[in-house]
Amino acid sequence: MTDMTAPHTVAFPQNRTCPYHPPTAYDPLRDTRPLARVTLYDGREVWLVTGHGLARTLLADPRLSSDRTRPDFPAPTARFAGLVKRKSALLGVDDPEHRVQRRMMVPSFTLRRAAELRPEIQRIVDERLDAMIDRGAPAELVSAFALPVPSMVICALLGVPYADHDFFEGQSRRLLRGPTAEDTMDARDQLEVYFGELIDRKQKQSEPGDGVLDDLVHQQLRDGALDREELIALATILLVAGHETTANMISLGTFTLLQHPDRLAELRADPGLMPAAVEELMRMLSIADGMLRVAVEDIEVDGQTISAGSGVVLSTSVINRDEAVYADPDSLDWHRPTRHHVAFGFGIHQCLGQNLARAEMEIALRTLFTRLPTLRLAVPAEEIPFKPGDTIQGMLELPVTW
Ligand code: HEM
Repeated sequence: MTDMTAPHTVAFPQNRTCPYHPPTAYDPLRDTRPLARVTLYDGREVWLVTGHGLARTLLADPRLSSDRTRPDFPAPTARFAGLVKRKSALLGVDDPEHRVQRRMMVPSFTLRRAAELRPEIQRIVDERLDAMIDRGAPAELVSAFALPVPSMVICALLGVPYADHDFFEGQSRRLLRGPTAEDTMDARDQLEVYFGELIDRKQKQSEPGDGVLDDLVHQQLRDGALDREELIALATILLVAGHETTANMISLGTFTLLQHPDRLAELRADPGLMPAAVEELMRMLSIADGMLRVAVEDIEVDGQTISAGSGVVLSTSVINRDEAVYADPDSLDWHRPTRHHVAFGFGIHQCLGQNLARAEMEIALRTLFTRLPTLRLAVPAEEIPFKPGDTIQGMLELPVTW
C-alpha cells in the first residue's frame, strides 16, 4: 500500500509533452489516486486531488475555501502569489459573498442567453473566416481566428469596445503568463484603470448600452448592491476568463482534431456529433489544469486527513483521465458519456461561462472544418509551440494551410 503521507517527488505544475495529454511527469499520480502530495514552485507541499469521485466531493465541500486572501492559500507560481492580496470576484471569494455575486451574473449566462447569442457568434465566426480566407493560405490560426472570435463575443456581451482588444488581450496575456510577479501585478493595475474609466464613461451615459457591464453600472452599482472596486474585479474576471480560455480550446481543439483524422472524418460525416465532441475535447484537453483551494477545517478523506491550513490543488487533466470513470481515458471517443468531466470545475464555482463557451466552440469548430475541408497543419506538428504548464493550456501559434 502506498504511504500517501510521504512527500511525493512530483513537482506541480509541469509542462505537457504533448499539448493534448497531461504531462508524462504526472503518470505516477495515476497510480496513487485519488490523492497525492506534490511540491509547488516555492517548495510548499500540498495535496493534489487526482480521483474523479473525490474531486467532485471536495469541490462541493464548504470546508475548502477559494478565498485567495487567506494566508495559507496555495500559489502555483510566483506570478499568482503577487495577485492574492488584490480584491477578486467570484472565483476568489466564498459564500455568502460569492452567492450574492453569482446571483447577479447568472441571468446573463444561462443556456437560453447563450442560445440567443448563437446568431451573433455565427456572424463573428463567418466574418473572421472570410477575412482569413481572403488573405489566403497559409494562416496563423490563433491570431486570425481562435483569439478574435471569443474576444469579440465577450466584448459584445459585456459592452466592452472591441477596438481596445490589443490592449486588453495583451494585459490578459501578461496577467496569465507574465514573466515576473511585478509584470503580472502591473497588468492587473492597467486592467483596473481601464475598467475604472470604462465604468465612469458608462455612468455618464443617459441611455445605458445593452452590455452586462451597462446593466451592472445602471442597476447594481447605482443601487449600492456592488461597490466600484467589486465591479472592476468582476469586469476583469469576466473579460479575462471569457476570452483566453475559449481561445485556447478553439486552437488546441483544432490541433487535436487535425492529429486525429479518423475522429475528424467521423465528425464531418455526422455533424450532429459536435456537442458530444466539444464535451469530449473539454475532457481530453482539460486546459484549466489546477484548481486551487485551502482547507479551513480538518477534512477526513480516503483514510487521510487534509488538515486545516493545507493547500489543495485539483488537477483537471489527471481527474478527467480517471480509469474508474472513463474507459480507455487517453483516447478520443465521441460516443462515451463525458457529461461529468470537471474541465469546467464543479460545485459553486463551476464555470459561469460554460454555456457560452460551448456555443462558441461548437460554432467555431463546425464552421472552420466545413468551410475549409482541406484544412491541415502548415508545418510538422512537432514544430508548433504550445503553452507552458504554469498557465491555461493551448497553442502559442497554429500555422495552417488549406
Ligand atoms: C472553454 C473555455 C473555458 C474553460 C475551460 C473554463 C474553465 C473554468 C473552470 C475550471 C472554472 C472553475 C475554477 C475553480 O473552481 O477553481 C471556471 C470558472 C469560471 N469561469 Fe470559466 N472556463 C471557460 C470559459 C469561460 C467563459 C467564456 C467565461 C465567460 C465569462 C468564463 C467565466 C468564468 C467565471 C466567471 C468563473 C468563476 C465562477 C465562480 O467562481 O462562480 N469561463 N472556468
